[in-house]
Amino acid sequence: MASTTTGKIAEFRRLLSRAHSVLVLTGAGISAESGVPTFRGAGGLWRQFRVTDLATPAAFSRSPSLVWEFYHYRRELVRTKQPNKAHIAIAQAEAKFEKQGKRFNVITQNVDGLHRRAGTKNLIEMHGNLFMTRCTSCGFTEENNSSPICESLRNRGSPAENGPDINEKDLPCCRKCKSLVRPHIVWFGEQIWDDVLEKIEKEIQLCDLFLVVGTSSVVYPAAGYASILSQKNIPIAEVNIETTPSTSIATYHFHGPAAQLLPQLLSSNIDDE
Ligand code: APR
Ligand code: ZN
Repeated sequence: MASTTTGKIAEFRRLLSRAHSVLVLTGAGISAESGVPTFRGAGGLWRQFRVTDLATPAAFSRSPSLVWEFYHYRRELVRTKQPNKAHIAIAQAEAKFEKQGKRFNVITQNVDGLHRRAGTKNLIEMHGNLFMTRCTSCGFTEENNSSPICESLRNRGSPAENGPDINEKDLPCCRKCKSLVRPHIVWFGEQIWDDVLEKIEKEIQLCDLFLVVGTSSVVYPAAGYASILSQKNIPIAEVNIETTPSTSIATYHFHGPAAQLLPQLLSSNIDDE
C-alpha cells in the first residue's frame, strides 16, 4: 500500500513538472488542520443550527442578529488560526510556477482567507470572504477586518449561549448609506457572481492538471469542475480523507490529510525530477 502511494505521488509529481496551467480547487478540508471546522463534518453545527441553514438569505432576513452573531463567531475564530502546510505548499508551488512563466491558479470555496494569508496570489474566492461586507441597500462592498465588527457583537456569538436579539440599527452598517450590511458571501440559494464565474471558466479552459483538495464535492458549481475536466481528459488528482463523488473520475486519489500530502505532492525540494 505504502509503495503504491509513493509510486503514485512520484507519477503525479512528474505530471506536475510538465504541466503548464495547474488549477487547484480547495474546500473546507484544507483548513481543517488549521482548526477551522468543516461544514459537513462533526463541526457543522453552531448552537442548535446546522451551519448550512444559517448561510442562507432566508435566515438573514428572518434574523440578521442571529446570522451576524454566527459570522462574528467565525471571523473571530479564523483570526486565531494560521495557514497550515497545505496552504503554504500551494503558495510555494504557485511562486515556483510563476517564476518559470507557467500558470498556477487556486479556486477556493473557503471564506476563511487562509490562502491569502499563506501568500497565494492567483486566487479566486468563489464563495466570498468572511472579512468582506456588502450593503443590503446600496451594494457597497469592502474589506472589513475590525474586531469585533461592531460594538454590539462584542462577546456575542458563542456557540454555547443565546442572547437577546441585537437591534438592526446596532448591527454592522454601511459607511456610505448607513443601511444594514451583510457578509460578502455566496449563501445557499444564491448565484456565484458573474465576474467570478467568468474567471473560473477561463481557468477551466486553460487547465492541464487539476488538483482537488478537501472538498466533499457536493456543492455546485464547484462539484462539477472535475467532471468537465475529466471529459476533456485532463488529469485530476484528489486529496481527501474520504472518498467523494469526484473520486471515481479522478486519475489519482490521495487518501489522507491535506497538510501531510500537499507538501509531498507539490514541494520542490524533493529531488525526483
Ligand atoms: N485533509 C483533506 N481533506 C479533509 C480533511 C483533511 N485534513 N479534513 C476533512 N477533509 C474533507 C472531508 O472528508 C470532506 O470531504 O474535506 C471535505 C469537507 O467537506 P465540506 O465540509 O462539505 O466542505 P466543502 O466541500 O468545502 O463545502 C462546500 O458548501 O457549506 C457550503 O459554501 C459552503 O464552501 C462551502 C461548500
Ligand atoms: Zn449602503
